Formats: sequence, structure tokens, C-alpha cells
Amino acid sequence: MSYTPLVAAELAFDGNGTPYAPAYGDVYHTAAGGLEQARHVFIQGNDLPRRWQGREIFTVVETGFGLGLNFLATWQAWRDDPQRCQRLHFVSVEMHPFSAADLARLHESWPELAPLAAELRAQWPLLMPGLHRLHFGSLTLTLAFGDALELLPQIVARADAFYLDGFSPAKNPDLWSDAVIAELRRLAAPGATLATWAVAGDVRRRLGDAGFALEKRPGFGGKREMLAGRLPGTTPAPAPTDRRIAVIGAGIAGTAIAERLAARDFEVTLIDAAAGPATGASGNPVGIIRPLPSLDDNRLSRWLRTGYLHAARHLSALQAEGLPLRWSRCGVLHLARDPKHEETQRRAIAEQAPPADFARFVERDEAARLAGWPVEAGGWWFPGGAWIAPPSLCAANLARQPGRIATRFDTTIAGLERQDGVWRVRGGNGDVIIEAAQVVLAAGAQVARLVPERMLPVWPGRGTVSLLPQAATPPLDIVACRLGYVTPAVDGIRCAGATMARDEATEPRIDDQIENLQRLDMILPGFGKGLDPALLAGRTSFRPMSPDRLPLAGALPPSADLPADGLHVLSGFGARGLVWATLAAELLASRIAGEPLPLEADLAAASDPARFQSKPPRRRL
Ligand SMILES: Cc1cc2nc3c(=O)[nH]c(=O)nc-3n(C[C@H](O)[C@H](O)[C@H](O)COP(=O)(O)OP(=O)(O)OC[C@H]3O[C@@H](n4cnc5c(N)ncnc54)[C@H](O)[C@@H]3O)c2cc1C
Ligand SMILES: C[S@@+](CC[C@H](N)C(=O)[O-])C[C@H]1O[C@@H](n2cnc3c(N)ncnc32)[C@H](O)[C@@H]1O
Repeated sequence: MSYTPLVAAELAFDGNGTPYAPAYGDVYHTAAGGLEQARHVFIQGNDLPRRWQGREIFTVVETGFGLGLNFLATWQAWRDDPQRCQRLHFVSVEMHPFSAADLARLHESWPELAPLAAELRAQWPLLMPGLHRLHFGSLTLTLAFGDALELLPQIVARADAFYLDGFSPAKNPDLWSDAVIAELRRLAAPGATLATWAVAGDVRRRLGDAGFALEKRPGFGGKREMLAGRLPGTTPAPAPTDRRIAVIGAGIAGTAIAERLAARDFEVTLIDAAAGPATGASGNPVGIIRPLPSLDDNRLSRWLRTGYLHAARHLSALQAEGLPLRWSRCGVLHLARDPKHEETQRRAIAEQAPPADFARFVERDEAARLAGWPVEAGGWWFPGGAWIAPPSLCAANLARQPGRIATRFDTTIAGLERQDGVWRVRGGNGDVIIEAAQVVLAAGAQVARLVPERMLPVWPGRGTVSLLPQAATPPLDIVACRLGYVTPAVDGIRCAGATMARDEATEPRIDDQIENLQRLDMILPGFGKGLDPALLAGRTSFRPMSPDRLPLAGALPPSADLPADGLHVLSGFGARGLVWATLAAELLASRIAGEPLPLEADLAAASDPARFQSKPPRRRL
């Protein structure tokens, strides 16, 4: 997929003061009132709130997010409905999003929506292509930024209601095209409804051909008619399910999925061999989060971009909720390895033109100014990049769902088997530790040991970080990287790392320290002068490596050795667990709960554990 930079919407108004799009020559809503139009056409037109009442999950899909008026009106109606569905998903595609500042100006016209609009803008994503998932309690908004023709095929969801709200079909034909309507049909659940103010003959013909039974209803704001449609069938109420889920491993993978599942009312038991969470790879004192652009915007870059933006929203939410998170968006400087790499970095920014808040290329002098230390090359500057104490993220994830995640520490799991429709999870002496309908394997680098050999191609990548005393190093307030990284000081210690090896020695070696000091010298020449590798402290742990460097987040494919019904994996995070744990957990929880996915279909497929079934994994470091 090539990277198409987003073109933001232009803020403009017509003679009546109605928001207007010069590029399309059309208004965003009728001059008679945008909020009233949202309620009359889209909410009532889909027979809401009645149709979501009593449902567990209800999903609205919209074409054209615009100012978000339909979304805000729906949120308000759902919030005020005592019989509302338990979880509401709103998925909306938008090719030209407004900036948050322009949205603020536009939202001023609807004071009654002000608190909701402010919450929306507080989470408003950077204007970058792809999917962005925002949580507002049990309401989830998935914004798909890009052309509907490209992105609708990438949406994985079962839609119960459609809001068709492009500009007029004559001025915005793409959004009413056969291709778009075919995609809506693909997404539709049985009995799905649609509503739109458009009644043009072409639109009616296409929707009718797609199988919607159409009805004209009285229109709004001077329009005589509007359109409501319905597909045959009904969505049966789901049978009550056994909601017990055991999660094995309490690092960032296990705590992230436990939090996401508890938020969806699963009965979660989190099990770990250690005495508490975050004792494995997630126990490092400090780690970093940053994206990794590429010229061809490959899957790794797209996964990391979405994961990085999603993680930043999650961390901000945990912080806003007063949870015990330790992190700082100090900025990450990713210096080029050599002149060729520097040119690649420069080109990636020039061609993709990301928002400067996301990334920009800085020449060597500016890079040195940012670091406060001489450097040998320019590089990428990610102003929102951060350091984070991973144990605090694990603790905050658990604290976010108080009383909703049972924990079993000091409990080593030796294996599991499925009997009579439940999983029996066994400890070392063969005792059944717990029975559960579903199990998530999140045991980090040890995860493959929980299942028969070769079922899971995840192996341990040994890594050591060196712990540098702040007092023995010059000042540094940002993260600097170049084939390694060095962080600002946290509790008097900077982390510099990290090594990568295949052996299983658990303690740091002098060679590890020497290697890390060499990396440090590559990043900031002379910064570590005077540090004695023999006197440095370090921490060694094991990354859960996957063959293609992408995470595993999904159901384990069945095998003759282990019937895999209800058996899931969240692992393979390699050297980037902090960047993608939150999004990978949201993806897996969405898969388990049967909700719309937070990622494009091709990226979700790229993290499906079944992908290693067709071709045997190539192991490499
Ligand atoms: C040196 C180093 C530096 C790193 N730096 C960064 C960084 O800067 N940024 C970044 O994004 N990522 C970084 N990473 C990667 C990141 O730390 C990992 O990807 C992440 O921590 C993996 O999380 P996890 O939950 O999958 O595994 P872990 O944190 O290892 O957790 C696995 C848990 O499973 C438990 N367990 C295992 N087997 C069993 C069993 N049989 N029964 C019960 N419990 C079991 C363990 O006790 C452990 O608590 C680094 C990794 C290393 C090693
Ligand atoms: C009438 S406005 C939507 C108003 C919006 N529903 C609201 O509640 O404020 C139509 C929107 O469709 C968007 N749009 C037009 N063509 C598109 C396309 N091909 N893909 C995605 N969005 C598109 C426009 O940028 C515009 O924001």
C-alpha cells in the first residue's frame, strides 16, 4: 500500500454561515440545522435508539465523518438512553479530516454538545492515513482516514446501521459509487438498516440492487423526502456464553489483554509464575516508544505507526485517570546510521509529509541541538516519542479495572488441555489451576513451551540494557537512538541498550556492557567516556521474537495435538513490545468479542498466528 498524505479539510462557510467545502462546492449539512438533521435523518432514519436497545454490541458505519455532528448526536442519544446497548461502535471513513482547531471552531455552534465535542477533540488523532481507534467509555469510535474506496475494503466489522452522508451524489460521486455500496453490503449484518437524505434515482437504484428494501420518509429542512433502507433478516440475540478467560503471563502483553477483556465484561484470571507482574522483559526500568517510517510504508511501518499513535492515546488516558504511570513524551531522536540511511530518512519525510508533530527530518546541527551533544548525522525527530517505565504500564493496566481481574501469582503453568468444552490449565504437578472457556497465551519468550512443539514459532531473543548512573553522564533530556538507544535519567539511572543474542544466560555479562557502551558511542560520541563496563549494573531479559518481526494477536490454528477452540496468543512483540502491546491487545479483544477491528484487514491478517501455517518460519535475529 503506498502512503498517500492526507489533505486536511479547509475551514470555510457559505453565505448562510453553514460549513462549506470549497473542494466539493457543497455544504456539510443543511442550513436548516445540522444537529436536527443528524437526529431526524440518521438516528431516526435507522430507527434508533429502538434498534440498539437490549443489544450487547451495536455497530454504526458512516461514510463521511465531516465535523462529527452525526457522531456526537448519536453519542448523546446513546448516553441518554437507559436501555442503550452495552457497547456502541461507530466506524466512520473520512478522506479530508478537519484539524482539531478547526473542529473546535465548528463545534462552537452546538453548545449542548460541547462536553462531548471537547472529549472528541481531546483524543482527535494526528492527521495520518489509516485507522484510529478512540475510546469513550463503552462507546468506541474507529476513524478511517483516507479514501473510502481504499479503506472500506479494509474494514472488518458487522454493521447494524449505515449513515450515508457524502456530499451530494452529483458533487461527490465516489462516495455513492457501486464500489462503495458493494462494500457497505459486504459489511452489513442481517437486517442492517441505512438512512440518508439523498434520494437521487441513481442512489436508489444502486442501494436497491445491493438488496436494500427502500422506503421514502419525510425529509428534513425543506427536503420533501429522505431514504431509509433495510436488508432482509435479523441479527439473532447471541446465546449466553461462558465468559471465563485465563490469561497466562503478566507482562505488558498479559496485563494489556486482561485490561481490554475486563473492559468488555469478561471474567479474567491473570496467571504468572512470578510473585507479581512485570518481571520478564516488561520489567526493564525504562523503554522507549517511537514509530519507524519506511519509503514504501511497509506493513511493519504501518503497524508501528498505528500502534504508536494508539499507545500514546492509551498512556494519556491512563495518566488522565490518575493511574500510576511513569512516562514522558520527551521526544525521540532517531539518528541515521550512515549517509545512505540519512538520505532515506530525508526522502521518507519529504515524500510522506507527515504532520511535524509526528515526525520531521532534522539536519545534523539541529539534531545536536536537540540532544545537547555533538552527533555525526541528521535523523528523524519524533516530538511525541516517549520513554516509559514498563512495570508502571503493567500496574496501571491492572489498576484501571479494579476488582475485575483476578490474579494468580507464583503459579507456573505447565500445559493445558480441552475437555468437555472448557480449557483445563495445569500447573507443574499436574493440578488443574483453573478452568476457563478461553485462554490467552501471553507468556512472552516462554510462550511456545505452553503448546506442543512447533505450534508457535516464538523464541527468546536475549537482551541486556546497561544502567548508567546519571551522575556519571552528561545531561540528556531526550531519547537518542542509532542502532541502540539511551534514555533520559529516571530515578537517577539512564538505560542504554540493547544487546541481542540467542543464548539463554540470565545475568548480564561484561561483553554485554562493552557492546552497549560501543552503541552509546555510536549515538553520542564520547557521552559514556569514563564509564567502566566492569562496574556497570545491567538487566538481562528475553524478547519474544517472531519470524517476521510482527506480533501474534489472534486465535491459534487448530492442530492434531491441540484442539484450538478458544485458544489465543498475544506475543511475538520482539524489541517493540511497548509500541504495539496496547493495540495488539485491543485487536485480540475485538476479535474475541466479535467487534469491529481497530486495524486495517491486511494488518490484522499480518498478525494472525495462523500466518505461519502455510509456510514454515525462517528463524533469524
Ligand atoms: C533489553 C530489552 C530492551 C527492550 N527495549 C524496548 C524498548 O525500548 N521499547 C519497546 O517497545 N520494547 C522494548 N523491548 C521489548 C519489550 O520489552 C518486550 O517486547 C515486552 O516486554 C514483551 O512483553 P511480554 O508480556 O510478551 O513478555 P514478558 O514481559 O517477558 O512477560 C511474560 C510473562 O510470562 C510469565 N510466564 C512465562 N512462562 C510462564 C508459565 N509457564 N507460567 C506462568 N507464567 C509464565 C513470565 O513470568 C512473565 O512475567 C525490550 C526488550 C529487551 C529484552
Ligand atoms: C456531508 S460531509 C459529512 C458530514 C458528517 N457526517 C457530519 O456529521 O458532520 C461529507 C464528508 O465526506 C467526506 N468525503 C468525500 N469523499 C470521500 C471519500 N471518497 N472517502 C472518504 N470521505 C469522503 C468529505 O470530506 C466530507 O467530510
